[in-house]
Amino acid sequence: MRLAGIDQGTTSTRALATRADGSIEVVHSASHKQYYPRDGWVEHDPEELIANIRKCADAVSDADALGIDNQGESCIAWDARSKEALSPVIVWQDSRTLQALERLREDGFEAETLERAGLPMDPYFSASKLGWIVNNVPAAREARKNGTLRLGTTDAFFLDRLTGTFATDVSTASRTSLMNLRTLEWDPVLCDLFGVPIECLPPIRSTTGDFGALGTAAGHLPVTASVVDQQAALYGFGCRQKGDAKITFGTGAFALMVTGEEIIRRPDLGLLPTVGWQLQGSDAVYALDGGVFTASAAVNWAKSLGLFSDFAKIDTFGNNSAAEGGLFFVPALAGLGCPYWQPRARGLWSGLSLEHGPDVMVQSILEGVALRSCQVMEAMDRCVPLAHGICIDGGMSRNTYFTQFLADVSGRTISPAIMPEVTGLGTICLAGDAPGIAYDAAVPCGSIQPKRDLRHLLPRFADIVSLSLKGSRDLSSG
Ligand code: G3P
Repeated sequence: MRLAGIDQGTTSTRALATRADGSIEVVHSASHKQYYPRDGWVEHDPEELIANIRKCADAVSDADALGIDNQGESCIAWDARSKEALSPVIVWQDSRTLQALERLREDGFEAETLERAGLPMDPYFSASKLGWIVNNVPAAREARKNGTLRLGTTDAFFLDRLTGTFATDVSTASRTSLMNLRTLEWDPVLCDLFGVPIECLPPIRSTTGDFGALGTAAGHLPVTASVVDQQAALYGFGCRQKGDAKITFGTGAFALMVTGEEIIRRPDLGLLPTVGWQLQGSDAVYALDGGVFTASAAVNWAKSLGLFSDFAKIDTFGNNSAAEGGLFFVPALAGLGCPYWQPRARGLWSGLSLEHGPDVMVQSILEGVALRSCQVMEAMDRCVPLAHGICIDGGMSRNTYFTQFLADVSGRTISPAIMPEVTGLGTICLAGDAPGIAYDAAVPCGSIQPKRDLRHLLPRFADIVSLSLKGSRDLSSG
């Protein structure tokens, strides 16, 4: 039995498959172009993504079942008859709807989204982007008049085009801010609020089940799971019990904690209830979400500025942290997510002096990402005690300075994935939930214990974050 997963992420599309011994291998990988047509806009070319998925599927065409994971909130419009895209993919990072959402927020509508979808008014989620497409893309307006408009997250577009199944899964639907978290159905009030015609949205299904078959060079490949990439990573870590949590350090740092069959609502702590997954025939498993929008994006930014040139050289620094020397960096380069949810916030350094050079500035960037992640962990722990340490993956989870600082500043065990393909493994395991297969596995993790108690740095960091919030308020008011 060979199982495969396609990990369709923000920067690349990768095909993975199980080997005979149950381990997994990366079989194909292709990156795609990022388009920034205007300030704050981020788009992908849907045809480039489709072509990359097809190549990935060809590379695993000998598999018995396939799972596909997606970028979450990124969304698109397409035509029901031709299956041609009518808009670019508007990526989760895109903030073109910020002002419209601020108006809705001022008018008091955030209470509705929090109550119904569990989510704040933030351009991160798909709803306002889909509303923007309906209002601003002539081809979408035309298709609506003709009754052929389809709207959804990228998974629904890929499945409709490639397998002929018009559907989305409940984990992805929970990222739109259009699904009612309790009923797990599209919410007519939210669809009205964002101007998204409910009849254009795909039926919501469980995460595992029959999503049709994808034609490959070698025949038909049954698609048996569709899921958000972050939720797939949670599953890939073997997080199944309430209190199990992970942070994936990619572009941003994406934290998720399993809360079981319970929807935990703690907007006061800035944590967002979302769906983890729903296995076919079972109840949905909920999770709490805490995104930090800029993680490795901040490190890459520092590299692009010439602050360092080699990732291997930012793995060790002197005995003391930059923060202990008074230098802090707030990595709010694309706004602040959990627990602040302030898209207009911007990054800042605090404590810079003439003695500081590029090395310590880079050190403070790594620490800033760790401190922000620690704020999310603390918020999670106040909702549901963290079962043990926290599982981590993604590029930064392999930086020994970063992981030790994270352990020291959180006072918790940090468990980095020993192999990098956690998302792919989770997607494959979900694909393995099909009748007659029942494949399950979890990524093995290391264990990093705190060596020094640096928890006292957190309150000081929180004070500095409030400066970046104040700066954003001053800017937006004039
Ligand atoms: O919420 C967006 C997130 O799911 C994207 O993850 O790995 O594609 O950058 P990634």
